[in-house]
Amino acid sequence: MKNYRTLQFHNRYSESDIVVGFQVLNTAGIQTRINEDSVVLDFDVVDMKYIERQQSQTEELLSHVLTELLKIRSFSSANGKIIFKTFNKEKRVSGKAENKKKRLGYESFQKHFSTENNEVPPEFLNKIICADSLNQLAQFPDNCVDLIFTSPPYNFGINYNNTDDVNTWHDYFDMLFAIFGECVRVLKSGGRIVVNIQPLYSDYVPSHHLVSNFFVQQGLIWKGEIIWEKNNYNCKYCTWGSWQSPSSPYLKYSWEFVEVFCKNTLKKDGEKEYADITGDEFKKWVYGKWSIAPERKMKEYKHDAMFPEELAKRVLKLFSFQNDIVLDPFNGVGTTTKVARSLGRQFIGIDIDAEYCKTARGRLKDGFF
Ligand SMILES: C[S@@+](CC[C@H](N)C(=O)[O-])C[C@H]1O[C@@H](n2cnc3c(N)ncnc32)[C@H](O)[C@@H]1O
Repeated sequence: MKNYRTLQFHNRYSESDIVVGFQVLNTAGIQTRINEDSVVLDFDVVDMKYIERQQSQTEELLSHVLTELLKIRSFSSANGKIIFKTFNKEKRVSGKAENKKKRLGYESFQKHFSTENNEVPPEFLNKIICADSLNQLAQFPDNCVDLIFTSPPYNFGINYNNTDDVNTWHDYFDMLFAIFGECVRVLKSGGRIVVNIQPLYSDYVPSHHLVSNFFVQQGLIWKGEIIWEKNNYNCKYCTWGSWQSPSSPYLKYSWEFVEVFCKNTLKKDGEKEYADITGDEFKKWVYGKWSIAPERKMKEYKHDAMFPEELAKRVLKLFSFQNDIVLDPFNGVGTTTKVARSLGRQFIGIDIDAEYCKTARGRLKDGFF
């Protein structure tokens, strides 16, 4: 169905102007009518040159129409004719499917991995493992875990017990991408990787974009992004940049990012009876901005960069089924593994630090939701 633009203006023309003018306009592709005391024109593709050539045939109708048409800025041209773009809803919706097909969607980036899934070696299942994830994951077969939820070390200089959290950004990303490469390999077909990440704004390095780019380059499908709103407006040092000047204002943030990726397909297989998210939770959590307070027990657990259990709970319930295998390769003091166990998932937590692993094991015995 065609969509036309419409022009309407007061009819102050003689009858002969209207008769002759309408003939010219019709030939040029414009549908004409009189509505009470108005001239109404409907059009999409117009031969403007033809109207220009015939202009002298009427006193002023044609030049008025030309003036009005030229005021419309949204047009393109083809074969000497002007194509006026319409903006009504019908046209936007009707072109959508075709445009989507033309763009190829995520398939433009996606790689096809084997769809054959494997078993995790039983000695690693439901365990907190103290190791470097790069070495540890090398012992896992391809396609064996359902969901990876993690937040990597951020390279901020956080005081972890055992690892140096400040390296050149190049060394940092080499380390991170080596481990994330293993994560892509061990993720099942249909599985998800969910990464909580906060850029170091003061270094102007967009870690969340670089990490997303890495996974897209690896051939995963970017499912989306959740803004984790912590509402902790951090003005500790009152860093304004150039105060009251556009020279170099400093932008501040009270949120972190959660990036979600899928392997092979957006749809995850699983039995309906193993979906444990309620209708209310689903309605709330598919809206991609989650307001959750930061973890308050960091002192108690002696870890400076934990995420809160509520964040893990939402990720696990929204992106995995009960009984699924959940892996956190930077498990810290075990927030992911604790929540996984409480929610009836199987789990694997790896951290390089023995003290954190001990705490993580202890937390597995904590209360269930
Ligand atoms: C941001 S913290 C994760 C905290 C965790 N989400 C929690 O709530 O407890 C990152 C963790 O990565 C660990 N880590 C750093 N390099 C590692 C590596 N190569 N292999 C395994 N763990 C590593 C650090 O010891 C640290 O506990």
